[in-house]
Amino acid sequence: MAVKPILRMGHPVLRVPAAPYPVSEIDTPEFAALIQDLRDTLVDAGGIGLAAPQIGVSYQVVIVDIPAGPSRYGELSALGFSVFINPKLTPLSTEKQSYWEGCLSVPGLRGLVSRPSVVQIDYLSDESVNQRRTFTGFPATVIQHELDHLTGTLYIDHIEDRSLIAFESEYETFHSASTPPTGI
Ligand code: NI
Repeated sequence: MAVKPILRMGHPVLRVPAAPYPVSEIDTPEFAALIQDLRDTLVDAGGIGLAAPQIGVSYQVVIVDIPAGPSRYGELSALGFSVFINPKLTPLSTEKQSYWEGCLSVPGLRGLVSRPSVVQIDYLSDESVNQRRTFTGFPATVIQHELDHLTGTLYIDHIEDRSLIAFESEYETFHSASTPPTGI
């Protein structure tokens, strides 16, 4: 298993819809290797979520691992290491929440993004079991950001006010005190 290069904005794979992962292949060494590669790459990058297309594998597979408590992303509510295969998203709230997002495929930048504050995700687990989970608050933003990667969407596509795109140091200097800090 290995740390893989993370594709950066401009790579075409980040802009095309990913294929559903073949259910019959979830219980294979190849799938286990993909998950380990994603996990190794996420840990190496210090991130909290990663989608398979970001390492050049255009399948609908996402991992998320949000640590609890204070971190370089601020005070977070935890979401333990989770694998989402072929996920479907249903917003459960018309209420929106805003976080300053970042992305390992868009290094050095942050942008303020509004998303539904409560979402339901239907997906297959890494044991091929159908699951349904509801997410609120910061984890809801993280999971929506990651699922976007499966449709060829980047968080910058959602930014309505382009004055709220910043380099990380300018974000820290001018914006971090006024809104919830975050990073993905
Ligand atoms: Ni991202």
